[in-house]
Amino acid sequence: MSQDDLKLSVARAAIQYIPEGKIIGVGTGSTANFFIDELARIKNRIVGAVASSRATADRLASHGIKVFDLNDITEPLPVYIDGADEITAKGAMIKGGGGALTREKIIASASEKFICIADESKLVDILGKFPLPVEVIPMASQLIARKLAVFGGKPVLRMKEGKPFVTDNGNVILDVSGLQIKDPANLEEKINNIVGVVTVGLFARTGANLCLMGCSDGVKTLA
Ligand code: 5RP
Repeated sequence: MSQDDLKLSVARAAIQYIPEGKIIGVGTGSTANFFIDELARIKNRIVGAVASSRATADRLASHGIKVFDLNDITEPLPVYIDGADEITAKGAMIKGGGGALTREKIIASASEKFICIADESKLVDILGKFPLPVEVIPMASQLIARKLAVFGGKPVLRMKEGKPFVTDNGNVILDVSGLQIKDPANLEEKINNIVGVVTVGLFARTGANLCLMGCSDGVKTLA
């Protein structure tokens, strides 16, 4: 099975967790895109979705799924479905490879349950092989890079087509490589405390409640 087959298998498996008549949260990335395409098949069973990025909002809308602004939602979303760059068996994750970490963390925090959908290549014992994304205020990027280097990794400004990558929120991203994150909740808190950091792509203090993991011998549920 290809990696895309595994992503499709977890996208399909996630559909059974979608409650009828509700608004759900939807993440960003290639696995989330498979999920959005599957969601389109049952779109009449939901009221709509809150999107974690412009790209996701566009894809939802292209399928005729109503996209809600989080500011118009007054109740917790029952479920948030999203992928991950790395995940441990305990549900701690690195996210933000697609640059949508801030809105992803916001919508996850607005949801009762985070269901991670990932292929088996994302499962790790220790987070950090995937460079840790940190969204920062642009004028503070070099100051924050020096502060992040204290944790032992190498922060690099994310570039796209020769220019700094700019998030949907108008910020930039530092990708910190070379970390071995043995206590992700602690590192998340420390990085959150650096002035000028908008969001760190560690989802550990509040991680995934459930992970649907696409493996060559079927979808496994890690809870
Ligand atoms: C985007 C994310 C994605 O969930 C993460 O990058 C995984 O993406 P993919 O499903 O394409 O592997 O955090 O900001």
